[in-house]
Amino acid sequence: MKSYFPKDFLWGGATAANQVEGGSGIDGKGLSVSDVYLFDSSMPKERWTDQWHMMTHQQVAEAQDPNSTKYYPKRQGIDFYHHFKEDIRLFAEMGFKAYRMSIAWTRIFPKGDEVEPNEAGLAFYDAVFDECLKYGIEPVVSLSHYEMPLYLVTEYGGWPNRQVIDFYVRFAKTVIERYQKKVKYWVTFNEINCVKHHPYVSVGIIEEGHPNIEQDKYQGAHHQFVASAIVTDYCHRLIPNAKVGCMISYQLLTPYSCDPDDVQKTVESQRTSLFFSDVQARGYYPAYANRMFEEKGVELVIEPGDLEVIRENPVDFVSFSYYMSSAVSAHPERLESAVGNLITGGIKNPYLPSSKWGWQIDPKGLRTALNQLYDRYQKPLFIAENGLGAEDVVNEDGTIDDFYRIDYLRQHIEQINEALHDGVEVFGYTAWGCIDIISASTSQMSKRYGFIYVDQDDEGNGTKKRIKKASFDWYKKVIASNGATL
Ligand code: BG6
Repeated sequence: MKSYFPKDFLWGGATAANQVEGGSGIDGKGLSVSDVYLFDSSMPKERWTDQWHMMTHQQVAEAQDPNSTKYYPKRQGIDFYHHFKEDIRLFAEMGFKAYRMSIAWTRIFPKGDEVEPNEAGLAFYDAVFDECLKYGIEPVVSLSHYEMPLYLVTEYGGWPNRQVIDFYVRFAKTVIERYQKKVKYWVTFNEINCVKHHPYVSVGIIEEGHPNIEQDKYQGAHHQFVASAIVTDYCHRLIPNAKVGCMISYQLLTPYSCDPDDVQKTVESQRTSLFFSDVQARGYYPAYANRMFEEKGVELVIEPGDLEVIRENPVDFVSFSYYMSSAVSAHPERLESAVGNLITGGIKNPYLPSSKWGWQIDPKGLRTALNQLYDRYQKPLFIAENGLGAEDVVNEDGTIDDFYRIDYLRQHIEQINEALHDGVEVFGYTAWGCIDIISASTSQMSKRYGFIYVDQDDEGNGTKKRIKKASFDWYKKVIASNGATL
């Protein structure tokens, strides 16, 4: 295949602190919103993602009980806290040029409202970045990946409270200043558009019994836009060659049929995601926002100076996760067996296969997504996440034949190549969960994405031994050939 990947393309992998690190309570770390998710195999599988979408007050209260015997997988992760040198060495062996990761806010400011940072937390990331740089791996750092301090939820009510802007900005400035010589690429918020699906982990609001959830979701998002713009400005002033990006979850939506109602519904639905990157990439609220807010009964409280700071500090690049596409129907009640079990409740597209978790596999959709985003923003694009969650089996001889994962990744990378040929500017690709980690939505360990297997089960048992899968050598060749050998 003719490769259109630029010479300096950032091939790599991605993880998030809350899903890998573990080290909960060690060296002063506080509890984050993600530390509240339980794994309980006795629960029916269909309910595993319920807590992801709707956290309860009772669960948040129980999670703070120091004597609890329940299992909270994201407190354990895969113990990257103690294995990072080994893990980064394996990333380097695959030839990674970039490692997208996040800094756990609660390691630096355990409750979130402290004035002084926790030195032990800062020292940990110094060691992680040094390890990356030793191998020539560029860190791409998310400042917030579903990890706000739990204390800011229970005591301040999360992002709808304007004070949280100051706490986040203090945290962000602290780490940007500390790592200014080590980190050039920063992402202010992971999947900022996902507040519509899971407001608890995104902006720290508990939906249960909430009197006006839409108002708080968008007020929280507005505060994140302001905070992101302040931090973008700070980063640009401090680090002359820094690049700051926004990050959205991009699920390509296609009309279920050519019925004009389906087409219009698709445009509107897609806008509910693109709204977030529209604000951050263009620097202003799009014209359609007024009607959207009117229909949701949202009246934003905008302080003097907010719109100016957003306008003056658009992001340098647009990054996104891409796993699947979904069909949209204006009349789902007329369809027979069309309801998919997609995580976002979309409609099944009869032309596409799905993963075991109902995520519809659509590699060509990635080319469409890249073209759409580039047409819309004309800014460099970074594919921050992409991958296949699957159950892997360790053979008797210790090998793992994850050829289904290779197929998935190959087909997606082929489409990135097509998009590059189309003229789209893409500067990096970090495969999600490059080492097996705890699933964000189900808290399972057995939903694996990695090139590297971790010997750990859903209950947290196992040796944590790292084992290379078949995809490890495959990805190494992809990187070495700069995308020519797939
Ligand atoms: C993205 C998140 O939505 O999808 C990651 O940014 C997450 O944190 C990934 O892990 C895959 O989702 P899941 O639920 O399969 O882990």
